[in-house]
Amino acid sequence: MKFDLTHDIFKTIAEVSNEMGIPVFVVGGFVRDRILGRSCKDIDFVCVGDSISFAKECARVIDPKINVSYFKNFGTAMFRYEDLEIEFVGARKESYSTNSRKPDVEQGTIEDDQLRRDFTINALAVEITGDTESEIIDPFNGLQDLEQQIIKTPTDPDITFSDDPLRMMRAIRFSSQLKFDIDPDVMKAIERNSSRIQIVSMERIIDELNKIILSPKPSVGFDMLFKSGVLKLIFPEMVQLYGVDVKNGIGHKDNFYHTLKVLDNVAEKSDDLWLRWAAILHDIAKPATKRFDDESGWTFHGHEFLGSKMVPSIFRRLKLPLNDKMKFVKKLVLLHLRPISLTSENITDSAVRRLLFEAGDDIDALMQLCEADITSKNKQKVQRYLKNFELVRERLKTVEE
Ligand code: CTP
Repeated sequence: MKFDLTHDIFKTIAEVSNEMGIPVFVVGGFVRDRILGRSCKDIDFVCVGDSISFAKECARVIDPKINVSYFKNFGTAMFRYEDLEIEFVGARKESYSTNSRKPDVEQGTIEDDQLRRDFTINALAVEITGDTESEIIDPFNGLQDLEQQIIKTPTDPDITFSDDPLRMMRAIRFSSQLKFDIDPDVMKAIERNSSRIQIVSMERIIDELNKIILSPKPSVGFDMLFKSGVLKLIFPEMVQLYGVDVKNGIGHKDNFYHTLKVLDNVAEKSDDLWLRWAAILHDIAKPATKRFDDESGWTFHGHEFLGSKMVPSIFRRLKLPLNDKMKFVKKLVLLHLRPISLTSENITDSAVRRLLFEAGDDIDALMQLCEADITSKNKQKVQRYLKNFELVRERLKTVEE
């Protein structure tokens, strides 16, 4: 299969490659996304030679004013060109020591470099020769895996994940984002290696988790994180939502799967990462507030108050921002029962005004969360809630006017 290389940047890189005698290849996400027809603003190049000198020379040829940032220890360099982020790395033969993320790096060939990449679909490379199109170098059948929509590793998955345990989350992220399956052997390796996620920094983990949350149907990724054992290590509060207690023949709903349903419902209507976080955390205090009462059965009194109090510490631990985004999530968790609790009998102007006052500019987001929270299987109950909900919406409009 030929790959189109008509962009200006490829012309310049080919010239510098010829002049310096350094073979250069475009690799990874850019090749994958172009084939999938997705847009991609990052281009990764592998140089078989000194990548930092190469990047500096390229930037000089394009515009001497361009600023090149580089990390000598890792042999990586990058600069911005128009709206693109261009990164250069030396072809590497690499292995990581067991207890650190610091690789022992040796210079390698393009094949060595492809072998040490995470997935076959990310291990495609195209040499930049100056031609406007070039053959895709695909030693691990990545093109076939793209076609068959499957995530596989170029080598033994235990080695791939041991080299960088974040790749376990990346596999799940790509699966959730692209709607690809994970090869069963790769999934088993994630289960076997899940505890190794603990050596990865929370900053890298949360980046992947947020990408899962922003995927079209985030429950797919969360369910895999849960079943593989990764979720309990990175986000134990969420795993505590799982399960159903039964007493006197009465059970409650499984709050883990309910939360995922609410998250999917929100995701159908909104791309807002923080509204999606509010969905994830709306019932987070249910395990801590769960009681059984002989008359009313299972109750979770005050879970919205305790839940909103838990938001800052969860955000802090997960290295999420402690700014107005956190305050937004906290507010939505606190108020998530309010719209639905305004029943047709008590939708007074003052009750609606109070809600409007407390929700402020976030009233629409709150209404979205509250509607997404209706996941009952009882159709009559759902109809009743939705009818009520429409009444609240109408009242909000009239009171606002
Ligand atoms: N890569 C890897 N192992 C990692 C991270 C990245 O092997 N833990 C390789 C893959 O070949 C990947 C490339 O580096 O395609 C670029 O990584 P990155 O920019 O993080 O991901 P993309 O694949 O470009 O995807 P996205 O932009 O969606 O993050």
